[in-house]
Amino acid sequence: MDLFEYQARDLFESYGVPVLRGIVVDTPQEARAAAEQLGGTVVVKAQVKTGGRGKAGGVKVVHNPEDAESAAAQILGMDIKGHKVRKVMIAAGAKIEREFYFSVLLDRANRSYLSLCSVEGGMEIEVLAVERPEALARVEVEPTVGIDDSKAREILRAAKFPDDLIDKAAAVLIRLYEVYKGEDATLVEVNPLVLTAEGEIVALDGKITLDDNAAFRHPGHEALEDTASEDPLEAKAKAADLNYVKLDGSVGIIGNGAGLVMSTLDVVAYAGERHGNVKPANFLDIGGGASAEVMAAGLDVILGDSQVKAVFVNVFGGITACDAVANGIVGALASLGDSANKPLVVRLDGNNVEEGRRILKAANHPLVTLADTMDEGADLAAKLAAAA
Ligand SMILES: Nc1ncnc2c1ncn2[C@@H]1O[C@H](COP(=O)(O)OP(=O)(O)O)[C@@H](O)[C@H]1O
Ligand SMILES: [Mg+2]
Repeated sequence: MDLFEYQARDLFESYGVPVLRGIVVDTPQEARAAAEQLGGTVVVKAQVKTGGRGKAGGVKVVHNPEDAESAAAQILGMDIKGHKVRKVMIAAGAKIEREFYFSVLLDRANRSYLSLCSVEGGMEIEVLAVERPEALARVEVEPTVGIDDSKAREILRAAKFPDDLIDKAAAVLIRLYEVYKGEDATLVEVNPLVLTAEGEIVALDGKITLDDNAAFRHPGHEALEDTASEDPLEAKAKAADLNYVKLDGSVGIIGNGAGLVMSTLDVVAYAGERHGNVKPANFLDIGGGASAEVMAAGLDVILGDSQVKAVFVNVFGGITACDAVANGIVGALASLGDSANKPLVVRLDGNNVEEGRRILKAANHPLVTLADTMDEGADLAAKLAAAA
């Protein structure tokens, strides 16, 4: 999970990384009040999870509360690279002498950590890496050692930091690494890390990516999730613990096991070419359980997608046998009642398939059609979606 700048700022502060004061708001009036509270020059900064906000007009320096209000009015609601601005941070304005770059990240290919550092901060690092690679120092960070004082100095010297700044900057790098390690991040990036007119090293922007696999040991991270920008169907699926990804087509897909669902998407897309180019509407893996409750939750999410015209349920009975799955489908349709209103093509195979099919046939639900094979089911579901 990527964090917003203001969340990164707060984490930095809690680890003792020098940051400026910042107040996050979501209306122009609050922006004005925040600017009054901070006093003097402030910077109104769009809070979106993408870089290049400055270039896109999402970062504005203003000198009084009235201008903070109008800058916020302009920035709120803006679209920056497909991200809608819902919040702005009013940050104290820094007097910048120089802008540097620092990051530490997980280096999967080398099974290690990597730090990147440059005295040419501020600009997009991807551009710097391509245009002036020699200006970007790359120093491996041994995960069992981390960034201690000697590693911090090694990184700063490799980046050709001015000698008189190394003591101060090293202390900041050590703290930034503590954020990386302490929060189980896969990326901590500061661009720019600045030298202020007062001679301080300050993190003016921050990007943190947290490792979701470590979420279980950070109960506090859940509160950092951005529920406002989440797709409502994906949020609903997440709440039900379902593995769901919304796509753009009209054939809803439910399957058990990621591999089976992936191949179902392929087969449906292929069949769709014969039927007006209809496409899968989603990825949904209901996992091994496939109980009536899980099936109902899955169908509920898929039928809630107004783009869906037909649903293909493709289940391979393993530990959960087909009869249990069939009962799950019948139970789900009963519990959904009138909200189950789109045709369902069901293909069952594997453990106890005969009994599963018998249960579905006996239920004789008007929306359900049984298919014998995956190809046949995909073809029928695509045909039904195209005809709807
Ligand atoms: N608090 C601040 N005070 C003064 N200038 C700032 C402040 N925050 C950002 N800036 C300036 O705006 C530029 C862009 O801001 P930044 O937070 O890095 O956004 P992005 O990287 O998304 O463009 C920075 O390089 C810096 O020059
Ligand atoms: Mg930046």
